[in-house]
Amino acid sequence: MKNFPFTFGIDVTSAQLEHYDNHIRRRLSSMVGYYSDQQAFARQLAKEDSLLYEVYETRRPEVAGELLNGLSVVHPGKVGDEYFMTKGHFHSVLETGEVYYCLKGEGAMVMETPEGDWSVEELRPGRVLYVPPRWAHRSVNIGANEDLVTFFVYPGHAGHDYGTIEKFGFRKLLVEREGKPQVIDNPRWRAQSV
Ligand SMILES: [Fe+2]
Repeated sequence: MKNFPFTFGIDVTSAQLEHYDNHIRRRLSSMVGYYSDQQAFARQLAKEDSLLYEVYETRRPEVAGELLNGLSVVHPGKVGDEYFMTKGHFHSVLETGEVYYCLKGEGAMVMETPEGDWSVEELRPGRVLYVPPRWAHRSVNIGANEDLVTFFVYPGHAGHDYGTIEKFGFRKLLVEREGKPQVIDNPRWRAQSV
């Protein structure tokens, strides 16, 4: 049997795809300016450039009609009281959505629109999260010891706009307060001048 169209497996225990041809690793040093407690960030980075999250992808052409898919693995940990998280992004083509399926761990998706709506939705194994068009999205691992693993699918022409979040931040942050996750206003959030 030729492997096209193709199938592949997901080993949930090892949090890996059976097949992938692109592996992205994001370390603490690539997240300068993303965490609220900048002193805690500097102290932590001076100690160790920890691996925060990884993405495993099967490459497909980045054009309309294709569906890009892969596995996102956010490791457990915190910077200050803010949980390890992905950079988060809008899609460059705003009118494109995305589907996430949570395979492992305990987390949340922090989302918002340029118009000011926001939402924080729970991610746990077996939950499907639908991110509608226009919604920026960031996965956050709120588990103490376990990876947060999600499988994602989005349109091939969507593209990634990381710059807007890097510059303005998300409206809401997920932090640990008295041992529990809590959604708070981001003190450093700036409104986009639309
Ligand atoms: Fe996305």
